[in-house]
Amino acid sequence: WPVHAAEIDAIQRLKRERNAVVLAHNYQTPEIFHGVADIVGDSLALARQAAATEADVIVQAGVHFMAETSKLLSPEKRVLIPDPRAGCSLASSIGAEDVRRLRERYPDAPVVSYVNTSAAVKAESDICCTSGNAVQVVESLGARRVIFLPDQYLAHYVALQTDVEIISWQGQCEVHERFTGAELEAYRRQFDELAVIAHPECPPDVLAAADYVGSTAQMIRFVEERRPRRVLLVTECSMSDNVAAGVPEVEFVRPCNLCPHMKRITLPGIRRALETLAPAVEIPPALAARARRAVERMLAVV
Ligand code: 13P
Ligand code: SF4
Repeated sequence: WPVHAAEIDAIQRLKRERNAVVLAHNYQTPEIFHGVADIVGDSLALARQAAATEADVIVQAGVHFMAETSKLLSPEKRVLIPDPRAGCSLASSIGAEDVRRLRERYPDAPVVSYVNTSAAVKAESDICCTSGNAVQVVESLGARRVIFLPDQYLAHYVALQTDVEIISWQGQCEVHERFTGAELEAYRRQFDELAVIAHPECPPDVLAAADYVGSTAQMIRFVEERRPRRVLLVTECSMSDNVAAGVPEVEFVRPCNLCPHMKRITLPGIRRALETLAPAVEIPPALAARARRAVERMLAVV
């Protein structure tokens, strides 16, 4: 990316000076994903790497809940989020008070929170999960029914794969909810030999029309291992850009739904964060201790 070369060089130098790493989600733009990231992955991989890194500073190239998860697992490190307004429609769909009310209503049901939630919601939860381990986490609890929040579509998808009764919340991802089953069928009519791979935040008719469903990392692995002739990644559009570079023989059919929150993270923002060591994520210690338990409990399951 010659146009970004100066910015990328500056970030690489600052990372060395600050003993910093950049953790980038799979939805970041290619100049971040390939240009400056030290670790890339889905929410689960980034959570694990945040816990393992020996750097003093983590720059989270992702959305705010991801930076909070890193801070929970690395409380002694400085965790920077280049734009704190990088939110998530799922995380903002539910608050701590909502979880307490659900518990009162279903006192026998443990609470499983998708990592796409605030630290305050995680603190009210028994365990977290990601899109890559949701079924295993639900089944690890040995409960007859669980409260699964906040994504109603992920909840629906999990319910199809387990005998555990799933009590869901009405949250949705503003990016994945826009895909439709009819749209996928139209792509199939237009392109033969098309592998349709979807993220489980998509609505049920989309998942029913897909050949494979998985977390962003699982979707990437599917493409890298199977190398289909043509593929449609039913998810945020930067992912196709990031994966396509490594599999030139695969043709990507690209409907484009952008996550406006992920797109708030830019090279100049990352550079500024490293220069100023701000904005840093802070979580009150008592709340962090409760939220950390839910994340660590998940990491112990898978
Ligand atoms: P993954 O954990 O699958 O990367 O998903 C995170 C996310 O925000 C999807 O919209
Ligand atoms: Fe949240 Fe959806 Fe954006 Fe992922 S893609 S961060 S779930 S709004």
